[in-house]
Amino acid sequence: MVEKQYGVSLKQYNTFGIDVRCECLCGFSSVDDLRALHAEGLFGSQWGVISGGSNILFTGDYHGTLLHPRGDRITETSREGDRVRLHVEAGVVWNDFVDYCVARSLWGAENLAYIPGYVGASPVQNIGAYGAEAADIIESVEVFGTDTGARVVMAREHCAFGYRMSVFKTLLRGKAVITAVNFTLSAVPDPRLGYGDLRDAVESMGGPTLANIRNAVTAIRKAKLPEPAELGNAGSFFKNPVVEEALAQELKKEYPDMPLYPSGQEGRAKLAAGWLIDRCGWKGRSLGPAAVHDRQALVLVNLGGAAGRDILDLAAAVSRDVEERFGVALESEVNVL
Ligand code: EPU
Repeated sequence: MVEKQYGVSLKQYNTFGIDVRCECLCGFSSVDDLRALHAEGLFGSQWGVISGGSNILFTGDYHGTLLHPRGDRITETSREGDRVRLHVEAGVVWNDFVDYCVARSLWGAENLAYIPGYVGASPVQNIGAYGAEAADIIESVEVFGTDTGARVVMAREHCAFGYRMSVFKTLLRGKAVITAVNFTLSAVPDPRLGYGDLRDAVESMGGPTLANIRNAVTAIRKAKLPEPAELGNAGSFFKNPVVEEALAQELKKEYPDMPLYPSGQEGRAKLAAGWLIDRCGWKGRSLGPAAVHDRQALVLVNLGGAAGRDILDLAAAVSRDVEERFGVALESEVNVL
């Protein structure tokens, strides 16, 4: 059922807690709802999607319609050998999906526990943490094409997944609404403990069971990342920059303790933006009502009453310093609207 509300404050709908309004907030639960909206001509006007609002920064009122997915069913659609397939509607809270998998002894989502947001947003920036990413378990993504009004099931190979990247951020931006995601999970144990902090925490809990991994990830995230209900934020504000190998090696020579990761791209390496920002002395510093979190420099927070502009001003000041000191450009991970 389509549910429209007009002139709504979005403060409760974005984890930065920015107080802006949108002309129309429109809940939808099915592809039929989207077909009805298509017939009304909605997709010819200004529109967007807001689900958990955990990766979005509003810099002003939204002059248009924001679609909000409400479908929240999880259905097991097949079981072949060790592989279990789940159909998950876009409005399911991501962490509820992780808990559902852990409760049914299904492996694959546990390293991604406690990431904020909804399932429908997970393919867009290919959410990731602790050596895993959503693309590892996504089999296909169901979308409603807003030009054609057709429902399309996109196999993962066609989603162009990369580090915090997918076709939904590029070619299909503004052309598709994600209605559900099909995941393939493993019914046999498949622990991924390559990330040292996680391995140690899991060992201290008694070994790599699904619940231990989920609980360890949750504990690490809670220790490092601020709770949006207490301190508005959108998780990592910046992506970890991927730079030329030559620049990475030059920096490594000058700063031997600088973390350096493989990028998956020939001749390029990934740096830790949090470390770069920390080294510029920004950790815990504020600029007006916006601040760099004191436990994780990659996270920008709203100290209370910040406007989107305040967060952007801080992001610009931080980026300027990192560029001047290290010659590295930072790129926002958060969607700025
Ligand atoms: N570091 C610092 N100072 C800081 C923060 C980090 O020196 O203030 C150093 C750390 O000591 C470490 C390195 O930078 O050596 C990397 O830090 P960390 O392991 O905390 O991870 P990250 O690169 O900062 C990424 C993701 C997180 C994800 C974690 C864990 C991005 C942009 N962020 O952060 O994702 O939870 O790895 O896997 O890739 C998110 O996207 O919202 C998010 C929180």
